[in-house]
Amino acid sequence: MLAFTTFFLLAGAVLARVVDDRDLPVTRNGSRLYLNNKPWTAAGANVYWLGLDENIVPPWTTSNPKPDPFYAPLNASYPTKGRITEVMSTLKVMGARTIRSQTMGVSVGNPLSIMPELGVVNEKAFESLDWTVSEAKKAGLRIFAPLTDNYDYYHGGKFVFLRWRGIDIGSTGSVDPQVQEFYNNRTIIDDFKNYIKVLLTHRNQYTNLTYAEDPTIFAYETGNELGGPTFGDKNVPVAWTQEITEYIKKLAPTKLTVDGTYGINDTHLNISSVDIYSDHFYPMDIDKLSKGVASVAAVNKVYFAAEYGWTPQSQTKTKSDQFFAWIESQQNKTKPIIAGDHFWSLFTHNVPDCSNFVDHNDGFTLQYGNPKNPANYTDQIAKIRQHLFKMQGQLVSSELPAAPCPGS
Ligand SMILES: *[C@@H]1O[C@H](CO)[C@@H](O)[C@H](O)[C@H]1NC(C)=O
Ligand SMILES: *[C@@H]1O[C@H](CO)[C@@H](O)[C@H](O)[C@H]1NC(C)=O
Ligand SMILES: *[C@@H]1O[C@H](CO)[C@@H](O)[C@H](O)[C@H]1NC(C)=O
Ligand SMILES: *[C@@H]1O[C@H](CO)[C@@H](O)[C@H](O)[C@H]1NC(C)=O
Ligand SMILES: *[C@@H]1O[C@H](CO)[C@@H](O)[C@H](O)[C@H]1NC(C)=O
Ligand SMILES: *[C@@H]1O[C@H](CO)[C@@H](O)[C@H](O)[C@H]1NC(C)=O
Ligand SMILES: *[C@@H]1O[C@H](CO)[C@@H](O)[C@H](O)[C@H]1NC(C)=O
Ligand SMILES: *[C@@H]1O[C@H](CO)[C@@H](O)[C@H](O)[C@H]1NC(C)=O
Repeated sequence: MLAFTTFFLLAGAVLARVVDDRDLPVTRNGSRLYLNNKPWTAAGANVYWLGLDENIVPPWTTSNPKPDPFYAPLNASYPTKGRITEVMSTLKVMGARTIRSQTMGVSVGNPLSIMPELGVVNEKAFESLDWTVSEAKKAGLRIFAPLTDNYDYYHGGKFVFLRWRGIDIGSTGSVDPQVQEFYNNRTIIDDFKNYIKVLLTHRNQYTNLTYAEDPTIFAYETGNELGGPTFGDKNVPVAWTQEITEYIKKLAPTKLTVDGTYGINDTHLNISSVDIYSDHFYPMDIDKLSKGVASVAAVNKVYFAAEYGWTPQSQTKTKSDQFFAWIESQQNKTKPIIAGDHFWSLFTHNVPDCSNFVDHNDGFTLQYGNPKNPANYTDQIAKIRQHLFKMQGQLVSSELPAAPCPGS
């Protein structure tokens, strides 16, 4: 009898390990996401700098005087491990489940990139990504990442792939129509697919899983705010979106795919290899949100408000209270369609310096726990925290509990 009981206790322990949710992929059935057969929401934050940052000029403290890898023309440097660890504990305290991060997917064209030059792989660049995935997993968080960018920022994007094949055009304002070669030129499409393969087949030194295998990265997005020659034109070919999302699923069969077109392009709605459609909100706008959700509802798929500006300049049309309440109200429906939303964007301390926060200059920097935050910032951050917990089905007060800073 004793042996019998012991056997079942052991079997129970083994089973308990097998069903650790962190080891399971997030799945989609129709218009809902699931984790371990339970409906799962995906609300959280944009933390774009996890793979490579642009806001710190090292050495950044007297305790760390050694020059770290730095590319001065773009102010590019790797974030410290402590910064990555701190942001994970901050996100837990804020009630987030999901991180969207450009530099966990886009890393081309400068000496610190994963692919500094066409076909050249820089293994050192994976260190910060590997650590991010491993720390996110410990915290029970999930990541999704765009694979390229519509713009020419420090981390690279579609303009880098074009330059690699001799197409050197301006990247601001109305862009030369040749920019569409990124989506239409077979050589450039194959270059981009090769980059995707390098990323997805990389084996993480901390988890010993490839990014394709690791369920912590639950989705890849074809790109960030993709479009054509005119800003906001949604001009991304169906064939390209289909080929890239099919390729992601070929390399990583359990990964979900996000159409990275900026806004809902109705001609994309029947692409069977797309799981999630998304839009960004500057400003928050319930009309645009409900229209987009209705389009995606017609094809029984999932929708993300993948970015919204959280400050008052982004609340000229819809106030955040209304925006959040609308998204929350969908969650009790049989087909919620919208599975989550992500504020732009989170920064934490300049770890190992736990007394100063990293600043970014786009006017949307959210520094959780910064004692210098004015009262109106703190109020707004408390509302975001309550919203994130509500998306998990929990009610919390407007308190802002401290998140630990790991120091050195
Ligand atoms: C998906 O949902 C449908 C309808 O709710 C259900 O009949 C079906 O069994 C589900 N499929 C899976 C794979 O869970
Ligand atoms: C890099 O940072 C320095 C110091 O903060 C700033 O003066 C400079 O303009 C930045 N350069 C770029 C390319 O952003
Ligand atoms: C694709 O781009 C390459 C490099 O610029 C060029 O040689 C080739 O002709 C282009 N192919 C097509 C089909 O336009
Ligand atoms: C890592 O995974 C590979 C492939 O599954 C396996 O061959 C290798 O032994 C693993 N290494 C460690 C250190 O577990
Ligand atoms: C949507 O995508 C199609 C197919 O690539 C493209 O022709 C169209 O310009 C895009 N824009 C809109 C607004 O539908
Ligand atoms: C989507 O629908 C259009 C028009 O009905 C059709 O031409 C196209 O082949 C479809 N695409 C896919 C991926 O099913
Ligand atoms: C959703 O349902 C839960 C539990 O049934 C309830 O507490 C909550 O108020 C509902 N939310 C909305 C927005 O209706
Ligand atoms: C806080 O108030 C200041 C001064 O009125 C304003 O400029 C700023 O945008 C407000 N910020 C937030 C997050 O409410």
